[in-house]
Amino acid sequence: MKAHLTRRYMFSASHRLHSDDMSEAENTVTYGKCNNPYGHGHNYALEVTVSGPVDESTGMVCNLVDLDGFVQREILQRFDLENLNTREEFVRTVPTTENLCTTIYDILQRGFTYAHLDKVRIEETMMNSFEYVGENCVIQ
Ligand code: NI
Repeated sequence: MKAHLTRRYMFSASHRLHSDDMSEAENTVTYGKCNNPYGHGHNYALEVTVSGPVDESTGMVCNLVDLDGFVQREILQRFDLENLNTREEFVRTVPTTENLCTTIYDILQRGFTYAHLDKVRIEETMMNSFEYVGENCVIQ
């Protein structure tokens, strides 16, 4: 019996949307006010969905202690209260929330072994959110 588990985490970070591959004018046209040199912040809501068989002895897909520990160590400590543009992950990658989503997915995919990673979803504002399910996966 397979079940899905979604856990929600909050973190805050700042970013500036700017590509070194574009001119100043192109950056302004592409990113608008998000290109302002001083950046701006978001309170991100991160949702991680994992799945797997329900363990017969524990009754769980995976232990929340393991999931929380991994996300705390590998994601929140890395990005919470940081300027995303200064992080090594975004030296050559524009820290849009699309790219933040795929970056977090890749970190989880590489290291979280307690259950299958299904999806990473990030709410950037009340009005927009982004999801990533990996390259070889189809949302069912
Ligand atoms: Ni923004």
